[in-house]
Amino acid sequence: MKLNIQHAASFVPSGSLKAIAAQTAACNELLENGKGAGNDYIGWVTLPSEIDDAILSDIEATAKSLRESCEIVIVAGIGGSYLGARAVNEALASSFDAYMPERKNPIVVYAGNNIGEDYLADLMALLKGRKFGIINISKSGTTTETALAFRLLKTMLEQQVGKEEARKRIVAVTDKAKGALRSLATKEGYKTYVIPDNVGGRFSVLTPVGLLPVAVAGWDIRAIVKGAQEMQKATAANVPYEKNPAAQYAAMRNALYQYGKKTEILVNFNPRLHYFAEWWKQLYGESEGKDHKGIFTAAVDFTTDLHSMGQWIQEGERNIFETVISIDMPQQEVRIPHDTENLDGLNFLSGRRVDEVNKMAELGTRLAHVDGGVPNIHISFEQLDEYNIGQFIYFFERACGISGYVLGVNPFNQPGVEAYKKNMFALLDKPGYEEESKAIKARLDK
Ligand code: PA5
Repeated sequence: MKLNIQHAASFVPSGSLKAIAAQTAACNELLENGKGAGNDYIGWVTLPSEIDDAILSDIEATAKSLRESCEIVIVAGIGGSYLGARAVNEALASSFDAYMPERKNPIVVYAGNNIGEDYLADLMALLKGRKFGIINISKSGTTTETALAFRLLKTMLEQQVGKEEARKRIVAVTDKAKGALRSLATKEGYKTYVIPDNVGGRFSVLTPVGLLPVAVAGWDIRAIVKGAQEMQKATAANVPYEKNPAAQYAAMRNALYQYGKKTEILVNFNPRLHYFAEWWKQLYGESEGKDHKGIFTAAVDFTTDLHSMGQWIQEGERNIFETVISIDMPQQEVRIPHDTENLDGLNFLSGRRVDEVNKMAELGTRLAHVDGGVPNIHISFEQLDEYNIGQFIYFFERACGISGYVLGVNPFNQPGVEAYKKNMFALLDKPGYEEESKAIKARLDK
């Protein structure tokens, strides 16, 4: 991968970037020596180099069995137990994958990431009479969205194929000992995978949380791990700032933040990267948004959103910066045909690749936005394949850890996500929430 921070550096005094850059080595070191805040959740730092052949083979075997027995596999999970797998699967698959008639692998769909009644009804309508399986992913095992979807899907599967067969088509990915999902899996005899204690949800894509759904979709998880291993070496604490892309990205975004750039917009020019941006938004937003600090993470898909948010980015409030993800080479080639009538005026493009148009749109946009006062960080990858995606994942994780420490927060907790749950349980009269129920209802009555 290549990182270019030149068009962002010009927006901050060079002394301030240098001062932050100087902090990154120590912050990166904290990730390795485990002396920083949240140090019980830094297992992801060395995860790529520790993944062994046995676990990869086991995941591949389970994926094969699900592929052989199912037309559809539902991945039930939310947040860190969902976004990584979806990001990778959607980045690698055809944009029209679910509609391709000659499929080798099951369609992977996602549930347990919302509480939409229509969504669940639509999903159950899709599954009626189809051969399906479920990968249920929850580290705590108690997340309402996921548990609720799983209860519905499990009931449906058991009704369709009987308990014995259903058991073979359900896999649980959860804590090694704790939580409702672990107890249920033990009781029912499901195949299970463990989410390590020291890896938090949003850093778990390189565990079975991400690797199993990706393997089910038919992708090469070994190449993903290899890419991540390379990036682990390239971003290690002993790699100097000038050669360390994670340190540079972390430093640049903190420097911009200090100079009033409070929102980072992740930009892609490839629709397959939409869910990568969702994964990235969670990774940085949940890691840094605390203690009343942190960059707000947003994302746009270009050129689509140039026709909507493009106006705001070009001329709205100047409190933003962009990080553009660029893919050097598409996987396929489409050339623009000649048209004798040329009524659309596009013959100047005849014979040229669609990607050339996209790349010029990208370059033109980057220049226009920089001219309009939007700092630009540019990250490019050769192509969208498993190896590069492995690099991509680890690069952003490592930079996130460094960046959070530079900001002065604990990047590995998420105390703020409990507030809505407490209110929801109180409003739903969950046992154990009697006091909260009384208090919240009195508040609503006022
Ligand atoms: O990053 C996180 O910790 C969260 O997004 C969790 O992954 C998410 O809330 C799901 O939690 P669980 O895996 O316990 O169901």
